[in-house]
Amino acid sequence: MDLVNKINELKKQKNAIIMAHYYQDAAIQDIADYVGDSLALAQWAAKTEAAIIVMCGVHFMGETAKILSPQKRVLVPDTAAGCSLADSCPADEFAAFIKEHPNHTVISYVNTTAAVKALTDVVVTSTNAKAIVDTFEPDAPIIFGPDHNLGNYINEVTGRKMVLWNGACHVHEKFAADKLKALKEQYPDAPVLTHPECKQSVVELSDFVGSTQAILNYAGKSDAKRFIVVTESGILHKMRQQYPEKEFIPAPSVDGAACNECNYMRLNTLQKVYDCLLNESPQVLVDEAVAQQAVKPILRMLELSK
Ligand code: 13P
Ligand code: SF4
Repeated sequence: MDLVNKINELKKQKNAIIMAHYYQDAAIQDIADYVGDSLALAQWAAKTEAAIIVMCGVHFMGETAKILSPQKRVLVPDTAAGCSLADSCPADEFAAFIKEHPNHTVISYVNTTAAVKALTDVVVTSTNAKAIVDTFEPDAPIIFGPDHNLGNYINEVTGRKMVLWNGACHVHEKFAADKLKALKEQYPDAPVLTHPECKQSVVELSDFVGSTQAILNYAGKSDAKRFIVVTESGILHKMRQQYPEKEFIPAPSVDGAACNECNYMRLNTLQKVYDCLLNESPQVLVDEAVAQQAVKPILRMLELSK
């Protein structure tokens, strides 16, 4: 039996489902029961009836699923699949930062550890960040972390002055304005679709800025025939599957690579998905006291995103 059949067989036997982020390899997206952005993965994890969730993404996504569904077994194919953005915000340093800014509401991007979420008032993803920030008074004192590019973008579009934690994603920071400008000259008819984790100089050259899901939706609705895509290149698989008549051009990274991949996301392989289902390991476990705090801002986000 090939690996795909073996995975499907195990899934049935064990009442398991596979969830995958848009940044996963095509083969993993194609065997997943659900493929989505960070928000959709959290929403599905909160309501699935399955006994086992295999979270094909990075560690914070598994943690979020476990916090939302503590009675379920949450498996990840590779525990080394971390996130540079989550790593850029150690919980003890973030706690000190919060102390330095008393009376501020703490808004954290979902790309954080459970310990950082436990210090947070409301979690956001790139899909709902602006809408959730908009629920606060225009002059409300807010700390936004850890992604300073996303925070800066929201400050720009809302006219706010949120205090930003200085964290970033190493993948999105690798997109460079000069390389994008050259690509735009080559394809002047192609709208530029950009993830808000990119630098301001890149965002400024873009026709649309949004989450992976929003980028996908935009490409579907637009009359344009081709698009320049400025985010992790895994999303191109879904774009080409959904809109085969359109052309999607990945923006190059600053080091000249034709497209930009997240080395953490790409640690997951079909073989590791099979192994983790077979062995029911590695499992994601979250300290109970931390989980009890962290679940509150995640549930608040889900409530505000209905
Ligand atoms: P979204 O899934 O919200 O688009 O975020 C992308 C990302 O960097 C996930 O790690
Ligand atoms: Fe983290 Fe960036 Fe990879 Fe997303 S693309 S998982 S933010 S390192």
